[in-house]
Amino acid sequence: MDAITCIETRMSIRQFKPDPVDRDLLAGVIATARRAPSYKNSQPWEVMIVSGEKKEALAGHLIKLLESGREPCPDLEAPQSWPPAEQARIDALFRKRKEATGIDLAAPEMILKAKKANFRFYNAPHGIFLYQDASLSQWSLFDLGIFAQTLMLAAHARGLGTVPQAFAVDYAAETKRFLGIPESKRLVLGMAIGYPDMDAPANSLRTDRVPVDEILTWAE
Ligand SMILES: Cc1cc2nc3c(=O)[nH]c(=O)nc-3n(C[C@H](O)[C@H](O)[C@H](O)COP(=O)(O)O)c2cc1C
Repeated sequence: MDAITCIETRMSIRQFKPDPVDRDLLAGVIATARRAPSYKNSQPWEVMIVSGEKKEALAGHLIKLLESGREPCPDLEAPQSWPPAEQARIDALFRKRKEATGIDLAAPEMILKAKKANFRFYNAPHGIFLYQDASLSQWSLFDLGIFAQTLMLAAHARGLGTVPQAFAVDYAAETKRFLGIPESKRLVLGMAIGYPDMDAPANSLRTDRVPVDEILTWAE
């Protein structure tokens, strides 16, 4: 697959086949992701891949916290509001997602359901956590974002599906404790990874993008 096709056909995958992914294949994806650029080549990223019983136990633990009414406390504060342009795009996504999958992310009971699905990594055989030292600057967060996209493209090029998941790190402190990640780390993102089930309705959604002239200005 060439790079342009890889970028243009990557999409968030929210239903997976149960088949586990070979460890060498997963390690290969991470090895490719390492080629992401970073500020002064500082490579401010650490990765944990959770599978099997540990993944199930973690999901159970997080779902219990959610059901007990524990307030989310992610290491990166969730946005409380958006400027109008971004909010309009979010509204359009929610409308489209409701049409495609019946899931209305604006409804509180659906949010609960969606969070549980995220904690289960959408039934993917593996969950990835991306983290970095909490003392690192915003540039390192930027670098981790580039790493995440490189990882997703490297996975897609190898026939694997992914979805980046802010929801999966809602209970950051508890997740780090459960997984033995030091408290001094900033838990940035969860990500499901596995073989995509392309027949599942959850994977029928193709998200839109705004036209280029809405985001591009030429200055000469
Ligand atoms: C930082 C970040 C956090 C996200 N968090 C979630 C999440 O918690 N759950 C989820 O299902 N999708 C999540 N997504 C996926 C976005 O909804 C998705 O990337 C967007 O709608 C565009 O769709 P596409 O990935 O199919 O192109 C997240 C994406 C990013 C980049």
